[in-house]
Formats: sequence, structure tokens, C-alpha cells
Amino acid sequence: MRIDLRSDTITRPTQEMLEAMMQAEVGDDVYKEDPSVNALEEKVANMFGKDQALFFPSGSMANQTAIKLHTHPGEQLIADQYAHVYNYEGGGVSFNSGVSCKLLSGHRGMITADQVLSAINPPDFYHSALTSLVCIENTTNKGGGACYDFEEIKNIKQVCQEHNLGYHLDGARLWNALVAKNEEAIEYGKVFDTISVCLSKGLGAPVGSLLVGDNEIMNDAIRVRKTLGGAMRQVGYLAAAGIYALDHNYDRLEEDHKKAKELGAVLMDLSFVKKVEPIETNIIIFTIDEDADNFISLMAKKDIHFYGMGQGKLRFVTHLDYTQQKHEYFLEELMSFTF
Ligand SMILES: Cc1ncc(COP(=O)(O)O)c(C=O)c1O
Repeated sequence: MRIDLRSDTITRPTQEMLEAMMQAEVGDDVYKEDPSVNALEEKVANMFGKDQALFFPSGSMANQTAIKLHTHPGEQLIADQYAHVYNYEGGGVSFNSGVSCKLLSGHRGMITADQVLSAINPPDFYHSALTSLVCIENTTNKGGGACYDFEEIKNIKQVCQEHNLGYHLDGARLWNALVAKNEEAIEYGKVFDTISVCLSKGLGAPVGSLLVGDNEIMNDAIRVRKTLGGAMRQVGYLAAAGIYALDHNYDRLEEDHKKAKELGAVLMDLSFVKKVEPIETNIIIFTIDEDADNFISLMAKKDIHFYGMGQGKLRFVTHLDYTQQKHEYFLEELMSFTF
């Protein structure tokens, strides 16, 4: 049995999702004439209580668009050192927006309001880059699916307001945080200027992300998306998958979190496991006493796949296609594993 815990992005559409896609009404979305895309954008904008949502082919493009909207070339954004926008978007912050990053050493990918405050360059000190944006991630990817305390999110907002900084949330896995912490999207909409969310991670859609925000900042988003080559035509087939994912796969994220915690509990009992980081959502990060690459290749021989994250860290990510049957099989394999 193949077990693939490399990422929650590897899921394939179910038969039901494919049927929803087949039945989608479509039109030319470059002319804003695709009813399925329009419906998805309206649905997500309403969830967050924002004026607009715009459909994107990827989370990276949604984040990069947000950064472009919030900044001018030469300016600086503040983010955690693990931030996806800095580490895994191909240097897009500098390539697309001409912006530098001030990286903070946070806790599991999460930064505090005090850290943000001390990282802001004085606006009248013209020798340094003008700080114009704070980007945070919830849940954190490289931080192991950790969820922010909402109070800290609001504290950072306060700093942003006092210092005239934009506030963007990379919410690729915000759905996981909302489910894990029993929070509402609308509360996040009140705090952030822009939020990107992904349909193609835990929700199991094949493609698609959205950027939400109010008119003032979002009116230019469609032009930036065009510039980045992200305007698509009859893309309602993908939007229909996204609507299906939101309607059917949101509450079940709890199952992924439960499986992740069960995996963590088994890992902790294994003699060769050194440390398992706290598990809040669907990402498990752990270290072992043995060679991490060797563990990955021995498991791969059993058709069990996961990634190393450098510095000896290993990662499992649970998801929609990691069924209960696969879970039980994998737990057994782990418990009986020897080097
Ligand atoms: C935290 C975070 N932000 C953004 C993205 C980008 O998403 P995409 O792969 O759709 O560009 C990812 C992808 O895994 C992610 O983990």
C-alpha cells in the first residue's frame, strides 16, 4: 500500500469533486464572465467579511500579488525566518516587488508584536529601507503546522496600525487553524488587510487560491494578477472544485489533525525518535537519533514517502487521501520498524 505523507498538496480530486467540476457553468474569467469563479469569489469574500476575493492559480501568486499591492520597490517587509513568502516563492519578493525582507527569529514560524515593533526601520531614517508590510503565516508550514494565538495576531495588528504598515496573512492552511482553534474566518477578516487562502492543500482541490481584501487595496489586484500571468479563461472548472472542497472537506480537517496526533504518539514511543514537535494540526515534525536520509530511503523501499526538512528534521503531513486504512497500516509499519 502506498503511503504518501510528503505534503497535503498531493491529493487528487474525488469522483464527487470531479462530477462537480464537470457540471460547472463556465465563461471567460478574464472578462469576469465565469459564473463559477464569480460564485467562489463571492463565497470566500463573504466568509471573511471582505469586499472582494480574487481567484489565483497558486498560493504563491496570491501572496506575491499581496506583497506587490502593499509595497513599493526599495521597501522592506517583516516576516519570520521560516516564512513561505521568503523561502519558497522563488525570490519573488525581490523579483516581483523589489522589496527586501527583515527576517525575525520567531517560535515555530510565529513572531510577536514586540519583535515586529523592534524590527521597524524608523521612517525618517532615510539610510534604511522603509518598512511597509508585515506578513505572517497561519498555520506555519516550516514551523510544523503551529497556530497563532489570536490575541497575538491582534497585538501585531495594533503595531501595524500605529506604524502605518500593511498586514498580510499567508493563510495557505488557515482552514486548519480555524478548525483546530475553533475560530471564525470573519474574525480574521476584521484584522488583516489581505489574506491568501489555498483550496489545494487540506481541502483537497486540485488547484486554486484566493486573495481577499477590501476594495481600496484589492482594486489593483486584478491588474497585478494579469502582470504575473495569472488571468485564466474558463477556469470555472477549477472554481467548482474549490466550492465543492469548501462545502465538503472543511469540517473533516479535524480527522487529519487526529491522525497527526496519533502518529505523533506512536513516534514518541519509538526508541530511535529523539523529539517530536508539538502537533496542533496536520503537520508532524520530528528528529531521530539515526541518519534521517537513511530512514527516508528505507521507508521509501516500503513505498512510504515523506520529506526531510534539513537540519535532521523529518516531516509527515496528513491529508484527505491518507485514509483510515492507510493510517492503521502505517502505524503498524512504524511500530515494527527497525534500522
Ligand atoms: C504556508 C504556505 N504558503 C504558501 C504556499 C504556496 O502555495 P502554492 O504551492 O499553491 O503556490 C504554500 C505551499 O505549500 C505554503 O505552505
